Amino acid sequence: MTGSPRLLDGKRCGDALKTDIATQAAAVKAMRGRAPHLAAVLVGNDGASKTYVEAKVKACGTVGFRSSLIRLPETITEEELLARVRSLNADPDLDGFIVQLPLPAHIDADRVLQAIDPQKDVDGFHPQNVGNMVLGLPGFLPATPSGICELLKFYHIETAGKHCVVVGRSNIVGTPVSILLSRNAYPGNCTVTLAHSRTKDLPSITEQADILVVAIGKPGFITGDMVKEGAVVVDVGIHRIPDATKKNGFRLEGDVDYGSVRDRCSAITPVPGGVGPMTITSLLLNTLKAAH
Ligand code: GUN
Repeated sequence: MTGSPRLLDGKRCGDALKTDIATQAAAVKAMRGRAPHLAAVLVGNDGASKTYVEAKVKACGTVGFRSSLIRLPETITEEELLARVRSLNADPDLDGFIVQLPLPAHIDADRVLQAIDPQKDVDGFHPQNVGNMVLGLPGFLPATPSGICELLKFYHIETAGKHCVVVGRSNIVGTPVSILLSRNAYPGNCTVTLAHSRTKDLPSITEQADILVVAIGKPGFITGDMVKEGAVVVDVGIHRIPDATKKNGFRLEGDVDYGSVRDRCSAITPVPGGVGPMTITSLLLNTLKAAH
């Protein structure tokens, strides 16, 4: 492609949606006497998780939500964490909550996620919400996949009949995004290929993609030669790369090698400022829905 690709700006899209969320939050507050309230549980001291959770809590303030950050020690036992989840389930002042992943290795994350009341599961990770998503029934959609859909919608990206290749099959992103984009809806109606670490000859698959969603967790993994001319590229990865030329000592990079891909694609999500802000906005949308 000649010229620069269109930037799918998640900050711009997220800010537009947040204006509407703030209006609705004020209406909820007027009606019920209290604002929507989200709690985030952070176990341990993982630096990246702390950054993400703080960003989620901060975003609540920008739309007039109440928020609570619950920090628990790395050494907490699974039973203690489960008890905490049960008390959050029972708290009538709380509309929704999340338990930030990953959890320490001694805790079974599936058990914890299954203990969350599906009506307060604003991350959409409980099996009941996952099942509802697969069947197209009402429920909470996971934040990153639904944020990607909102972003495609905001930029009027055509999806019907397109070949969408998703790289990465995680429960949080790859698998649900493959389901949402194959649904009979907009955005959706894609023919979806879900590629992963055991896919043979990955470049021969990715170069067929009209829409390429990359959530593989490896910096710069997708290079220009793997991308079809004119493709729409959604980069879910975010990595801190040590960089002595930066004031804070690192730069942020996605799963896509932006330098070589930018000349081939027609549109791309930047890192940072693409999918990240959309994940947070979707979490706010789910919390508003829980409050309703
Ligand atoms: N870890 C990475 N992404 C997410 C997310 O969307 N929610 C939670 N709870 N943990 C995460």
